Amino acid sequence: MRNYKDLFLLDSEITYLNFGSFGACPKPIFETYQDWQLKLERSPVHFIVDEAIKELENVRKKLGEYIGANFQDIVMVTNPSYAINTIAKAFPLKQGDEILSTNLEYGACDRVWEYYCEKAGAIYIKQEISLPLESKESFLIEFWKGFSKNTKAVYISHITSATGLILPIEEICIEAKKRGLITIIDGAHVPGHLQLNLSQLEADIYTGACHKWMMGPKGSSFLYVNKENQDWVDPLLISWGYKSEFPSDSNFIDFHQTSGTRDYAAFLTVSKCIHFMAENNWESVSNICKKETLSQGIHLTELLKSSFLAPLTSEFYGQLFSVPIKTSEPTKLKELLFEKYKIEIPIILQNGNSYLRFSYQAFNNSDDMAVLYKAIEELIKNGNIIAAK
Ligand SMILES: Cc1ncc(COP(=O)(O)O)c(C=O)c1O
Repeated sequence: MRNYKDLFLLDSEITYLNFGSFGACPKPIFETYQDWQLKLERSPVHFIVDEAIKELENVRKKLGEYIGANFQDIVMVTNPSYAINTIAKAFPLKQGDEILSTNLEYGACDRVWEYYCEKAGAIYIKQEISLPLESKESFLIEFWKGFSKNTKAVYISHITSATGLILPIEEICIEAKKRGLITIIDGAHVPGHLQLNLSQLEADIYTGACHKWMMGPKGSSFLYVNKENQDWVDPLLISWGYKSEFPSDSNFIDFHQTSGTRDYAAFLTVSKCIHFMAENNWESVSNICKKETLSQGIHLTELLKSSFLAPLTSEFYGQLFSVPIKTSEPTKLKELLFEKYKIEIPIILQNGNSYLRFSYQAFNNSDDMAVLYKAIEELIKNGNIIAAK
């Protein structure tokens, strides 16, 4: 694979193994982002009122093609947190209703559901999923144990954050439909990482970040809502789109797209991300990274004398790999990895466990992993990590 390090703006002093948290822009994408900002600054009124709104439609059309969705069913939002807040706040929750989820979700979004469920007297069910996962089937059996006659919707990650696992979302959407439930999928890590075809997936609601694996500027993401559910999904912010003086043929788009003065540059750059990935055959780059993720993940797990979180196949792993790590001071350990060894890698806590999670993107290579392995060996020797027997 060609050396992609020069294509990114990342500090060469840092071994960057945390693409997953906030992504990183390749130079051509970042330049396009800055071009949009300049265009806005040169003619703020004309740009915001006319150009940006028209260009946003092109972005939605390109993104729609890329993720297999009708462009009238997608709105651009800053991030998946915003999308989940929109949905949880608008969801017609009643006392005693249940939202079925798992104990593997992203902490900030867990809090969103907890907040709105508590307010309504509803219950957010974090169904316990045992790790390691044995198979898709065993996951599904455990997951559906959380279902009851009060369940109204399923909320679940397509790729989990702390554990970096791909979950069987296709099967969940099919079964949820049979049970009459609304499916709300947190696909923050999916676009640009796994192939996504929303018309096949049949999720009711889906959010994905464009600023992670699509390599867009921070603050570019989407919220997809199918036609059947658009009526109840109020925007977080009411603006000119409500009772619009110039309505388009979609209430949903009018309602969600206007939110007062804002910098549209990150949204508008998403077309460039799609073009960049096509031009650079990014699917095959991603496939090479996925293979490398698995083999490096095996090595890291052995080094830590730890265990795998799922069967080692592409069904469960993409370009993220989490290894349970034993340490009494996870925060200090993370700081040590950054300050002393110049490695950017997260240690994420969930359900009483600490996970060392590496991301493998085009700019990574085996030298980066070797830097991590050397640091880990030293930290084990010094007693900062208690390697299991
Ligand atoms: C699974 C998952 N959901 C949601 C989010 C939230 O993303 P953001 O902070 O961009 O809203 C993240 C962030 O890493 C995530 O991993």
